[in-house]
Amino acid sequence: MASLDVEKIRKDFPILKTTMNGKPLVYLDSAATSQKPRQVINAVAKHYKKTNANIHRGIYKLAEDATEQYIKTKELTAKFIGAESYRSIVYLRSTTEAINAVARAWGDANVERGDHILITEMEHHSNIVPWQLLAKRRGATLDYVKLEGSKFIDMDDYRAKLQSRPKMVAFTHVSNVLGTINDVEEMTRMAHEVDSTVLVDAAQSVPHMPVNVKDMHAEFVAFSSHKMLGPSGVGVLYGREEVLEEMPPFHAGGDMIRSVDFQESTWNELPWKFEAGTQNIEGAIGFGAAIKYLKKLGMENVREHEKTLTKYALEKLAGSGVKAFGPGVEEIEKKAGVIAFSMPGAHAHDIAQVFDNEGIAVRSGHHCAMPLVTKVLMQPAVPRMSFYIYNNEEEVDKAVAAISKVREVLKIKN
Ligand code: ALA
Repeated sequence: MASLDVEKIRKDFPILKTTMNGKPLVYLDSAATSQKPRQVINAVAKHYKKTNANIHRGIYKLAEDATEQYIKTKELTAKFIGAESYRSIVYLRSTTEAINAVARAWGDANVERGDHILITEMEHHSNIVPWQLLAKRRGATLDYVKLEGSKFIDMDDYRAKLQSRPKMVAFTHVSNVLGTINDVEEMTRMAHEVDSTVLVDAAQSVPHMPVNVKDMHAEFVAFSSHKMLGPSGVGVLYGREEVLEEMPPFHAGGDMIRSVDFQESTWNELPWKFEAGTQNIEGAIGFGAAIKYLKKLGMENVREHEKTLTKYALEKLAGSGVKAFGPGVEEIEKKAGVIAFSMPGAHAHDIAQVFDNEGIAVRSGHHCAMPLVTKVLMQPAVPRMSFYIYNNEEEVDKAVAAISKVREVLKIKN
């Protein structure tokens, strides 16, 4: 039995009533970005209509209301991920910007020549390239943990690579290609044994399952509003307070200061020290509405629904002759709602094109994880379906039927 009332949920998403190429839209690309419910759309519109003003600046009522709303969204975010206080919650543009901020500000202050930085072979470019740049700037070495069976982090290799006592260990909670759910608690525990600082890319986990940063114990956790029903342009950098206190600011300008003199400045308190300039206020307000929506559903239920749907899809796909990457049905506890696959004789983009003609939106390419897709999975590109709270079995059936259509169009023999 479904753990969410999906038909009721679908009614909240205006875009799901639209068509694509004359067919009802089947949106299977939530790992790229999620759709938005009317509660989020209305919250943003209401802000523009009733409370629009800059925050932390005016002493008039409208500005005070906007500031209060903005701070409330920080409190919601903190509670949603189990953080002690909103002082740990920094809003940036995206998960990417959050990781870049840490690599720049924390990295430049802490990583020295000869140090090691450890990441894994299943990372998104946003959790690879900032560390490459940091390694180059500081004369450090960037190491990669290998994968086991092209699915899981090889924990023996991880243990071995930790022997270099990396200054930073950064890894994804959930792979955006394999759907693998990593054991963050254990990986963080092991990294802390060698005094490493840990950053978790939680862009594909916070929207889809219960996440508690206190259980994770990581120093930094990054994720984005747009992948969890909220507007784009709001990324969250969670940092343990004592780590953020130590970290120098990376953007400078208005609102991040306590005082400015001609030569020297001092910094505002957390989290404002890291939020220079006018923020994405409407985005944050929409994000707050998104969090409320997800809280009401319950993140356990969200996970349960996606697990059931993913299992259903994996079983159906196995019967359709495609190869699905990442953990399989028997490993469903370690698999999120992300299925990248390949089909002998068909290029990923051709598959996505046939799906598009059927009204089905899937992403195709290297998914910003080129080393994983090309070197580990040995594919030039892969199509990927990804699920969220509004997807149902009927949509999975349509995707499986589209695979037969691909065979027909490309004249592939079974
Ligand atoms: N990181 C996003 C994805 O995997 C954009 O599609």
